[in-house]
Amino acid sequence: MTRRAVVVGTGHYLPARVVENAEFEASLETTDDWIRSRSGIERRHFAAEGETTSDMATAAALAALADAGLEVEDVDAIVLATSTADLTFPSAATMVQAKLGMTRGFAFDIQAVCAGFVYALTNANALILSGQANRVLVIGAETFSRIMDWSDRSTCVLFGDGAGALVLEAQSATGSKEDRGILSTDLNSDGRYKDLLYVDGGVSTQNTGHLRMQGNQVFRHAVEKLAKTATTALERAELTTADVDWIVPHQANIRIIQGTAKKMGMSMEKVVVTVQDHGNTSAASIPLALSVGKSRGQIKAGDLIVTEAIGGGLAWGAVVLRW
Ligand code: UT7
Repeated sequence: MTRRAVVVGTGHYLPARVVENAEFEASLETTDDWIRSRSGIERRHFAAEGETTSDMATAAALAALADAGLEVEDVDAIVLATSTADLTFPSAATMVQAKLGMTRGFAFDIQAVCAGFVYALTNANALILSGQANRVLVIGAETFSRIMDWSDRSTCVLFGDGAGALVLEAQSATGSKEDRGILSTDLNSDGRYKDLLYVDGGVSTQNTGHLRMQGNQVFRHAVEKLAKTATTALERAELTTADVDWIVPHQANIRIIQGTAKKMGMSMEKVVVTVQDHGNTSAASIPLALSVGKSRGQIKAGDLIVTEAIGGGLAWGAVVLRW
């Protein structure tokens, strides 16, 4: 017998304000048609004034706990993936802990930009496998609208705000690839590519800064690296693409999602797609897509799922899990 980290609840939160592509036509030289055809994005949500990453993360966490039929007291740890925490410190995760009324256990943030959720899942899995926690809330939450340069049409039309959460629970398992739970993970980064996607400010440079991206360069890396990390993770679990029920990719661009599926030899019918409604929500995109995919009735118990993501760093990775 062995331990596995099994998903027992999902939830998400999207801010009330929905911004359609056409809204950008008033202030930028852009069109709904350009945004739709180059990225697949049709609309995105933006947080209200005063609404923060930890607020959205807390709402998603409460929804995931309710879905799992669990109480805050049942949780040992919170791992929150974000690059847009409310404050420089403390972590947004400890702010979520306080907002949930959780007075035991521990909480911390993970910062791997758009790959943040696969990094968070991998770390939460390690906490469970090593026996340091039995139940972990794993959250991805972002307010990228706060770091947009609204005069840069090549970036500001692509991103949105939101949060998604999973409850991972330690369960005993056989150790075989038929087990439910996280079966394998693969993480990578290469800091030489910093200039392709970064924020030109931060604590030690004394300003918040704005997101800067060489989109077409990131695109070139994305399809190849995503297909490779997904395949590596599958191989580690002694599985192949033929075993996969759903790819749940980072939702940055429909063309990247399609290109990656094609490279893996997977049909788009087996891909959960939410980019049209959420835009790129960075570390929140995968848990949002998992939660939406489940509520749509796409993802069911026993399904084999591959998540994969790439973003600033560059950092990228994949997680294979059985739902
Ligand atoms: O989540 C983190 C990872 N990030 C990503 O995965 C993003 C990856 N990149 C992308 O999604 C795509 O590269 C973009 C959607 C950002 C851009 O698509 P593209 O097909 O790579 O276009 P491009 O950057 O090569 O630009 C094509 C043209 C340029 O004009 P010229 O130089 O050809 O005259 C841009 O100036 O499109 C222009 N352009 C726009 N036109 C209308 C850029 N943004 C806009 C816009 N509206 N909003």
